[in-house]
Amino acid sequence: MGYFRENVEKAKGYEPGFQPVQVDEVIKLNTNENPYPPSPTVMKVLAEITPEQLRWYPDPQGNIFRQAAAELNGVQPDYIMCCNGGDELLSMAIRAFCDENRPVAYPVPTYSLYPVLANLQNCSAIEIPFDGEFNLPAKLTATGAALTIVCNPNAPTGTFIDVGELASLADELTGVLLIDEAYVDFAEANGTALVKDFDNVIILRSMSKGYSLAGIRFGYAIAQPELIAGLMKVKDSYNVDAVAIAVATAAIKDQQYFKENVEKVKADRKELIEQLRTLNFEIANSFANFVLAKSKICKAGEIYDKLVKRNIYVRYFDLPGIDDKLRITVGTKEQNQKLLSALNEILSEEIVLRDLSLSEMKDSQ
Ligand SMILES: Cc1ncc(COP(=O)(O)O)c(C=O)c1O
Repeated sequence: MGYFRENVEKAKGYEPGFQPVQVDEVIKLNTNENPYPPSPTVMKVLAEITPEQLRWYPDPQGNIFRQAAAELNGVQPDYIMCCNGGDELLSMAIRAFCDENRPVAYPVPTYSLYPVLANLQNCSAIEIPFDGEFNLPAKLTATGAALTIVCNPNAPTGTFIDVGELASLADELTGVLLIDEAYVDFAEANGTALVKDFDNVIILRSMSKGYSLAGIRFGYAIAQPELIAGLMKVKDSYNVDAVAIAVATAAIKDQQYFKENVEKVKADRKELIEQLRTLNFEIANSFANFVLAKSKICKAGEIYDKLVKRNIYVRYFDLPGIDDKLRITVGTKEQNQKLLSALNEILSEEIVLRDLSLSEMKDSQ
């Protein structure tokens, strides 16, 4: 017998996107960070952190953040729980609701962390395939899962499910519905209103994307107080640190800066999609800060390798249903342009090579 539990021994673990050390030299469009810096008020709060804030343990519940997030979302603070990134909420939810006899269910393809967490918890993961247009699968209502997760907007597809459909799903499920809204800041609607009507809905929010704070690890849950109180039992005593609480609170309070940034990303997303289409990529409309693109000319894995040689990082998943596509984070205008010219070069080379081998084939006949 090894030291680890059997499922841990066998687990592959989550494979995060590559994090280069030399950030200046690379164009990093692989892990959906915001291309713009956090709000200036965030940087001011960070610069003014006092020794006392570091010497003392933080507020275990991060109440100043809860208050600010509650005001923004039109709920009471006891509807909010702070977490160490949205990922921690996913981990807490699986630990709180699932075990060997209580499965988790979710549509696929989706965020590749869900099966990793299910495996660690030793619960079965019921994966229901999306149809070709990424509509909510009807079968999701009948899984009997203790926890159903719907990522909305979905990663890595960027597609969005109407909130009304999620309301019907919440109504039909016997277990909890966690709506992973890590990317919702870039969409046109969100599911916050559902927590008022349904005692089984948890909304996940991240400060990593819309608020440019991936480096500090902060997210939050919105749900009815009974669910929040239950989840609080599962969290680490001090799951969010004092610096993160101060910084995240400053960020969420600066809505003007947040909205300006989000609008820039949305406008650049539109432009990026149009330009990629002119380079012969197939792309569905995206409601997130990334796009999922399939080249009609060259294999996704090959394009990925050629971009890496040019110090440009996008995300390639060698997984069924998406191994022919690249997920590209919307960068600054300049980054997007550099990516597009690199793609233009790569695809033109491919066309020349193809024409050459075609004419060689003809010559040899
Ligand atoms: C779909 C989805 N959910 C949740 C998260 C967690 O975000 P974070 O832990 O940075 O808040 C991510 C991160 O990339 C994600 O892609």
